[in-house]
Amino acid sequence: MTADDLPLTGDFEVEGVLTDASNLTARVLFTGADGKPTGERALYKPIRGEAPLRDFPQGTLGHREVAAYLISTTGGWDLIPRTVLRDGPLGPGSLQRWIDWEAAGHQPGQSLLEAFPAAAVPEGWLTVVHGEDGEGRPVVVAHRDAPDLASMAVLDLVLNNADRKGAHLVRDADGRLWGFDHGLTLHTEDKLRTALWGWAGRPVPAADIARLERLRTLLESGSSRAAIEELISAEELAALQGRVTRLLAEPVYPELPTDRYPLPWPLW
Ligand SMILES: Nc1ncnc2c1ncn2[C@@H]1O[C@H](COP(=O)(O)OP(=O)(O)O)[C@@H](O)[C@H]1O
Ligand SMILES: [Mg+2]
Repeated sequence: MTADDLPLTGDFEVEGVLTDASNLTARVLFTGADGKPTGERALYKPIRGEAPLRDFPQGTLGHREVAAYLISTTGGWDLIPRTVLRDGPLGPGSLQRWIDWEAAGHQPGQSLLEAFPAAAVPEGWLTVVHGEDGEGRPVVVAHRDAPDLASMAVLDLVLNNADRKGAHLVRDADGRLWGFDHGLTLHTEDKLRTALWGWAGRPVPAADIARLERLRTLLESGSSRAAIEELISAEELAALQGRVTRLLAEPVYPELPTDRYPLPWPLW
């Protein structure tokens, strides 16, 4: 069984609560028939622990997490760890396989999104935003120019991701890229807030066009559509299809919007 086939079934116990999370979020440990830990971990976000938001309907973030996972797998991006809806000790919630980034020896965001002195952005990095450090010196926030990160940016366009920050990106010990926290996605209005603007105006890579085509077909009918239909509203599904269609008609990364704030807060 490969890591991403972990079924996320069976018993689990709460190992700890994440203190830096904006919603009630716990890391859980799966236990086997003998009651002993299997080593498999997940992030459990009970729906009743979702903080109320102005622009997203209450109690829907867990469903968006699962829908985002299904969209990632349906299109063939495979950039989101397996995510399911399940009951747990604090009621129903989303459960997402935990990526052991500690084993990889770095924090989420590290080596993917960094701040540099404005005159010293290294080769292989793309500028997102200019700013100042605590002493008023010019700095630049930049992300890596890597093919898997560019595919993540396409997935975010599809998901209409309102919260792609450094902490929601990590490479595992095998170097594989993963995205986290897709509760703020799939709104009908354009809410893209991302730290991955570095490809603005450039063509969408051919591999992602193929994924978009696959997703467009599978969203028309069949089991993938049916599974996503269970999780988001009819309007949100139609808006998702609209984004895919428009991106295929004009496969270019969009420019930063000027009529709204385009970055997540905080950036990491
Ligand atoms: N599946 C995961 N595996 C490993 N770390 C994760 C996973 N999901 C989230 N994290 C880490 O935990 C932090 C909090 O989780 P997140 O999903 O962002 O919660 P919240 O919705 O409260 O912001 C993230 O910023 C990320 O660094
Ligand atoms: Mg978060």
